[in-house]
Order: sequence, then structure tokens, then C-alpha cells
Amino acid sequence: MASYLPVLAESNTLLLAAVPIATAALWYTLRQRRSDLNALKGPHCDSWLYGNVHTVLGAELGQLEREWQSQFGDMVRLQGPFNNPVLLVMDPKGMQHVFQNSVDNFRLDRERNFFSEILLGNSLPVIDSDQHKRQRKILLPGFSAAEVKSHLPVFTVDANKLVDKWKKQIDNAGNGTAAVINTTSDMTKATLDAIGIVAFDYSFNALDDGENELTQAYQDILFSLFGKPKPQDELALSFLSILPDSVARAFLAKAPIPKLQRAKAATALADGLIERSLKDKQIQASVEHDKSKKDILSLISRAYTSDNIKMRLSDSEMVSTMKTMILAGNDTTSTSLTWALYELANHPEFQADLRREIQEKNTWEPSFKDLENMPLLNATIMETLRMQPSLGTVYRQAAVDELIPLSTPLKLKDGRTITDLPVPKGTKLLVSIDAYNRHPDVWGADSGEFNPRRWLDADGKVGTSGYNDAMTFGHGARRCLGWRFAVLEMQAFLFQVIGHLEFAPSAGSKKVIRMGGAILTPIVPEEFEKGAQMPLTISYAKMD
Ligand code: HEM
Repeated sequence: MASYLPVLAESNTLLLAAVPIATAALWYTLRQRRSDLNALKGPHCDSWLYGNVHTVLGAELGQLEREWQSQFGDMVRLQGPFNNPVLLVMDPKGMQHVFQNSVDNFRLDRERNFFSEILLGNSLPVIDSDQHKRQRKILLPGFSAAEVKSHLPVFTVDANKLVDKWKKQIDNAGNGTAAVINTTSDMTKATLDAIGIVAFDYSFNALDDGENELTQAYQDILFSLFGKPKPQDELALSFLSILPDSVARAFLAKAPIPKLQRAKAATALADGLIERSLKDKQIQASVEHDKSKKDILSLISRAYTSDNIKMRLSDSEMVSTMKTMILAGNDTTSTSLTWALYELANHPEFQADLRREIQEKNTWEPSFKDLENMPLLNATIMETLRMQPSLGTVYRQAAVDELIPLSTPLKLKDGRTITDLPVPKGTKLLVSIDAYNRHPDVWGADSGEFNPRRWLDADGKVGTSGYNDAMTFGHGARRCLGWRFAVLEMQAFLFQVIGHLEFAPSAGSKKVIRMGGAILTPIVPEEFEKGAQMPLTISYAKMD
């Protein structure tokens, strides 16, 4: 026993000497690793404690990004709490690397993901790596062009209900010829009705009956959870970063934070509804094996009962997937449609040309092919999606030390110029889809202007592959699963709405700003507490 004592004593002495040396070495290595990030230019930050990430997430989408892009370049150093560098990515090649070439090395932002998990469970937008690949493979067939086409009649019926509702409001307005209507609220209800039917054969009746419990619970939910962050929100996220996963989740499950409690209540309502529908469907699916049913829940139910165990979804994956359809599929599409109306209201000549294209079809029940072959309709949607991406910023975190290649060489503070940026493991990234979509090097000098004709070729035609050109649906292995669904829904809605009605700006719409952070939300600044608003003047369209 005694013979060990000197060794221990010696090792303690060694340890005592080793700790500061190791700490110094670690500090030096980290500093070296972080040196290029620290040498990156970026805006001044007043607060060591809070950092300045909240300033960009709480500002109008794109406003600070574009200012910094022209001042500092396409990669900007922001500051998280405790002086941790956060990277704002606006470089096109860099973005492609993060989304596509190196998708497993740039995972979802761990702490933000805890919040997404509360809303969505363990579904595609919140899972990574092999689990993500497996689930995506199971769900992909349900979102093919052939499956999505079958939803067109539902979209057409719902779009017509919306037109009828707005016509009634015009008839009842003071002069009976025009009414100022908050389009965003009705649009969200109409698209929720559509997703209810096509996703799980359920009538929310949101447009007829605004009192529906689930509709109210989901109203502006993404904006209320992620929109307009306060400085202390970023600080709270950085505290979560030192907790193990299970402790962080347990803490959030109990935390008395009002917006979290609202999210949990909405989730509980959705869970109940989905579990009930799911039970019915599973019984149906196992009894009937009815392969003709195309609603997404039937397709997922068939995956649930699949003989191939690897291609089977678990109970919780099923419920989470359905919740994701409601959230990922609804607000994104309704927001895009609302912004399309806003852009058309502000471009009356183009709106008139589009209406002519619609009315010349001589039918109010266009086929999938009719919609695909309408150049102005598709150019409107492509340009709206480019200008107004519903997810303006997405969040990532480096899982390993990485090197991001750049389209344009970047000058650092210390005078060096780099063509690849080293990014240490753990670095948080804000990837700006909005910056890509308005990047002058990609779209030309008029990149900031709404010009749908940019999508037309010399013969006035537009290719549907244009839906891949902007970054609006993301890119690579995590690209939006529902993009075809969203495009068809937008085609069907705009066909009816623009065909029957005319849109013009209102006093309120002239004040609208674009709030990012979560979903691109139209906000009237002096009425911030009212949430999403897009008041437009609507009248009957002339029928030629
Ligand atoms: C205009 C409407 C839409 C826009 C702009 C949009 C945008 C996006 C974006 C940018 C992503 C990638 C996020 C990331 O990389 O972190 C995404 C993913 C996703 N979207 Fe959409 N989306 C829309 C509509 C829809 C619809 C209608 C559905 C389903 C019915 C849907 C389901 C999904 C799912 C499941 C994912 C996760 C994909 C994965 O991680 O593999 N989206 N969406």
C-alpha cells in the first residue's frame, strides 16, 4: 500500500502541473481554431452577456443581413452569449456545402431543436443522420407528383370557399364594391381546411367557424414561439447547451414559460385529434387494405402496417409526422399565398395580365396540366417564393471541425484573404435563405425587385424546374418534402382568387414589414400584438 503513496503524490503533483498546461494548450488550440472565425468581420456587439444574434432575428427579415453583406461580405461574424462566435452564412457556395455536400456535418441546432421537438415530436424536421434518412425514405412516395396531383380537387373547393367568403365581405362593406380584409387570417384557415382533408380526411371547418379549438391553438404558433426573440432568449439557449439532452428536455417539460405552455397545449390538442383519426385509419387500413385512398394519413397508415420492419413507422413517429404536416405544411403555404397577394396588389399591371391568363382558360376547374402550363401563374409563384421565402433563416450547428468553401474570396480583419472558412465543431450557423434568394451575383442587379417576367424565356414560357432555382424549399437531403404539394396548392388557390377578385394595397398594407425568426410573418409594426396581418383592399374582378 505504502509503495503507492509516492506515485500518487507524484501523480498529483504531475496533475497539478498538467492541468494548467492542458488548459493553456486547450485554450491555445481553441483560440487557433477560432482564430479565422474571430478574424471574420461583423457588426459591433455591445453585450458580452447577450451577444447580438437577437438583433438580427428580431429585425425586419433581410434588413440587417443586406446591410452587413455589403459592409462585411457573405460570411459575417455575429456574437452569441459569452462572446461565442455565431456565423451568418450568405455565401451561395458555402450554403450549398452546408445543405448538400456536408449535410451530416452540419446538423440541426441542438438547443433550438428542443423547442421544435415540443411542437413536432420526432419527425423529419427535427431528426438527423440515419433516423432522418430512414423516415424520409418511408414518406417520400406520399409526396410524389402522382400522389400530390390527387389533392387538386380539394384545393379547388377550398379556394372557392375563400373566394365566396371574401365576396360576401365585399357585398356587406359600406359601399358594396370593395372591402379591406385581413387576408392572412382567412388564408391560414383556408389552407388548414385543405391540409385537414388531404392529410387525414378531417374537416377543420376553420374558414366557416373560426372558433375551432385547434385552429385557435395553432394560430400564429410559430411566430409566438420563435418570432421577435428577446436578448435573454439567446442566453437561455446557451444555458441549455451545458445540460445533457435528458436534463434539458426535462427542464423544458416543466418550465413555467408562457409561450412554451401555449405550444404544449396546442401539441396536446393535435395529439388527441391525430391519435383518434389514426386509430380509425389503422382499423380501416388493416380491414380494407384500400390502396386507392390517397390522403397522406392513409399512405402513412399503410407504411405503419408495412411487412418490411425497416420501412415501418412507430406510433410516435406517425403522430409526429401528422403534426408536422399541419405545422410545416400550413403556415408556410398560407404565408406564401398571402405574400403573393401582396406582391400582386403592388403590381396591378402584372396582376391584370395574370387574370387574363386565368380567365382565358374558360374553366373554373383547371386540371393539373392546365396549371402546369400557365407561364404567368407559375412565374408569379416562383417570384413570390424567391422574394418572400417563408423560412428566411434556418439554423445549423457544426458536428465536426469543417471547412466551408466560398464563392467569393473573403477579406479578414487581419488583412488575410481566404477562399475557405475553417469552422470549429460546435459553431452555430444562421443560414440566410433570404440572402441567397436576393443575392445580386445569383439574380442580377434587380434582385431586390419583384419581377415575375425574369422567369419567362424568349417564347414567354416558364419551366417548372424553376422551382429548384431559389433556396426557398432548402436544398439537398433536407429539402422540403412537401414542395410539390405547396406549389400545387398555391397554383389552385391563386387561379380561383385572382380569377374572381382584384387586390389593391390598403393603408395598412403599406405599413407591413417582414418579420423573420420563424415563419416570414407580415406585421403592422404599431399593431405588433395583433400578430400576422396583411390588410388588402379587395373588389370583384371584371369578367372578360
Ligand atoms: C411554400 C411552402 C413551403 C416552404 C417555403 C417550405 C420550406 C421548407 C424548408 C426551407 C425546409 C428545409 C428546412 C431545413 O433545411 O432546415 C422544409 C422542410 C420540410 N418541409 Fe416544407 N415548406 C413548405 C411547405 C411544406 C408542405 C406543404 C409540407 C407538407 C405537407 C412540408 C413539409 C416539410 C417537411 C416534412 C420538411 C422536413 C424535410 C426533411 O428534413 O427531410 N413543407 N420546408
